[in-house]
Amino acid sequence: MDITDRTVFIAGATSGIGLELARRFAAAGSAVIVGGRRTDLLDRLADEGFATVPIDVTDGAGVERARDAILESHPDLDTIVTMSGVMMTEDLRDPGHFGATEKTIDTNLLGTIRVVDAFTPHLIGRGAGTVITVTSGIAFLPFPPMPAYAASKAGVHAYSEALRAQLDGTGIEVCELVPPAVATIPEHARRNPRALDLAAFATEVMDLLRADPTPREILVKGVLMHRWAERDGTYDELVAQRSQTLAMLPGRQ
Ligand SMILES: NC(=O)c1ccc[n+]([C@@H]2O[C@H](COP(=O)([O-])OP(=O)(O)OC[C@H]3O[C@@H](n4cnc5c(N)ncnc54)[C@H](OP(=O)(O)O)[C@@H]3O)[C@@H](O)[C@H]2O)c1
Repeated sequence: MDITDRTVFIAGATSGIGLELARRFAAAGSAVIVGGRRTDLLDRLADEGFATVPIDVTDGAGVERARDAILESHPDLDTIVTMSGVMMTEDLRDPGHFGATEKTIDTNLLGTIRVVDAFTPHLIGRGAGTVITVTSGIAFLPFPPMPAYAASKAGVHAYSEALRAQLDGTGIEVCELVPPAVATIPEHARRNPRALDLAAFATEVMDLLRADPTPREILVKGVLMHRWAERDGTYDELVAQRSQTLAMLPGRQ
């Protein structure tokens, strides 16, 4: 895709990967609208020159209000990125985990669907556009301390596949960004030394996005072992390795 001349809405760009990609799209020449719940961060990003919109993807009516505000100010919107997500650990031996399950599915899976639904009629009307969904290496290789997270991202993967098939012929392309662990804050790098540097990750992502046609999946080198573990016959061994991290759950120490 041409990343130099886009009008991009990123739901979930007040911090982390979304914010870094917002900056990269803007630096490449695209107009970017940043969305999220934290209005203090939105104010700061507005000072930086971004268009901003408050949005909570768990609130369907709120998503539609945000959509209306964006299309009013940016009728040429052609790209949406469903970045909003939460990552929570859950101990499945404790039924009290269910609150985290609900929040994870509501934000990561239903939130993605709400945002896609809100903008699909506009993009179909334009006859061209790009939807970038965001999953995770964990969609393809579970990380046992985060079961609902894995389920939500596997769900977004499956949904993206169906969305691409259903939108075939409309001019809308569907691209799935599949990040591995990325150190968005210094604490991540301390906790997981294998997490990718955010800037290096974003550079690789933008290089891959530039390809024409836009790849169906954006797979940086660091996620290939997760994405293809089942095909490569390493799945069982890697899940067993990752299961050792269950010791990090508070009830297991
Ligand atoms: N970092 C990683 O290692 C990694 C790996 C694989 C996949 N991912 C995925 O990449 C995405 C970004 O993650 P990140 O690591 O950059 O985390 P982050 O810094 O916590 O960013 C999450 C973003 O989602 C937004 N968000 C959360 N709940 C929301 C809601 N209800 N409504 C609207 N926005 C909401 C947050 O904004 P507000 O709080 O302002 O609403 C924030 O902008 C997530 O989907 C995550 O699952 C991350």
